[in-house]
Amino acid sequence: MVFRVPPFLLPILFLASHVGAAVDLTLLASLRLTDPQRFFLTCVSGEAGAERGSDAWGPPLLLEKDDRIVRAPPGPPLRLVRNGSHQVTMRGFSRPADLVGVFSCVGGAGARRTRVIYVHNSFGAHLLPDKVTHTVNKGDTAVLSARIHKHKQTDVIWKSNGSYFNTLDWQEAEDGRFLLPFPNVQPPSSGIYSATYLDASPLGSAFFRLIVRDCGAGRWGPSCTKECPSCLHGGVCHDHDGDCVCPPGFTGTRCEQACREGRFGQSCQEQCPGISGCQGLTFCLPDPYGCSCGSGWKGSQCQEACAPGHFGADCRLQCQCQNGGTCDRFSGCVCPSGWHGVHCEKSGWGDWASNPMRGMSAPVGAPG
Ligand SMILES: *[C@@H]1O[C@H](CO)[C@@H](O)[C@H](O)[C@H]1NC(C)=O
Ligand SMILES: *[C@@H]1O[C@H](CO)[C@@H](O)[C@H](O)[C@H]1NC(C)=O
Repeated sequence: MVFRVPPFLLPILFLASHVGAAVDLTLLASLRLTDPQRFFLTCVSGEAGAERGSDAWGPPLLLEKDDRIVRAPPGPPLRLVRNGSHQVTMRGFSRPADLVGVFSCVGGAGARRTRVIYVHNSFGAHLLPDKVTHTVNKGDTAVLSARIHKHKQTDVIWKSNGSYFNTLDWQEAEDGRFLLPFPNVQPPSSGIYSATYLDASPLGSAFFRLIVRDCGAGRWGPSCTKECPSCLHGGVCHDHDGDCVCPPGFTGTRCEQACREGRFGQSCQEQCPGISGCQGLTFCLPDPYGCSCGSGWKGSQCQEACAPGHFGADCRLQCQCQNGGTCDRFSGCVCPSGWHGVHCEKSGWGDWASNPMRGMSAPVGAPG
């Protein structure tokens, strides 16, 4: 049997195979909507051809709640609303307990089929994670930290992937937190972790996701011999293909360029829903990135704007603007005319400085 690709598909297949191996898949959750009836998750695919109708491009986007590790009492079925084949939204939550747990979106075709995972915590839980997703390199030290929200005088049980892992006495709390350290962490320790007071409801746990890259820092490949590009702005080097997985709001092979405010996706092609842009949303991307707030926002509900001098996803980046540059919390230094570079440290009209588009930071030169 001869399998022929229709000629009009060829340019698209060509493009799709050259946009980098990381699948352009984002799982968004609205953290500010604590009312279950208004809560939603959306999965958006920016894959080439994804908007061409649900029948044209292989397997559909899946968005599902994974009950294997965190199980809520059964409730009414959740509703999925599709917008073409590039976007699917989940609604229909009725009780606060329905929201807690592991959600995943699956997209991309063939060998590139990828699962993006989000872990939702209850804001009324006894214990809350200081940070939900942790991405570390093989051999690093990871520390999961569960903050006491409602104190109890009972032991705290840590679980990994739903199975017993460790117990801490309530008096072992340090600075109002129960810590689970992983020195010299190895990839099989990746997974979903929870911390719960012994006699509290499992849904009152602090839930975490630990992602351990298959290689040490700055390395990728089957035997970790290849050197990662320097991924900028908080991008994470993919351990299997060496691509930078860019934080929401950044694009480019090394995440060197900021999107306009309120935009995300591998080519900044998506727009945050809602009038307040990306405020109150968490963004989960393919591993090993995990999840973060959008660019310009931070906090457990991603509702706080960055403090002056800070920018980027979770406001993790610091501006160091020279020569009168000002810090934009979405894009970093905005340089006065005649200056360019990440810190406005370069003078004269270089090849990038002629692009006056506001909100775009100038790509930087070679690393080092
Ligand atoms: C559906 O997708 C189109 C095209 O990407 C977009 O313009 C539109 O806003 C989406 N509709 C909803 C309800 O999200
Ligand atoms: C948890 O499950 C994942 C996926 O099934 C597995 O890769 C990982 O090694 C497990 N982690 C632990 C600590 O059991």
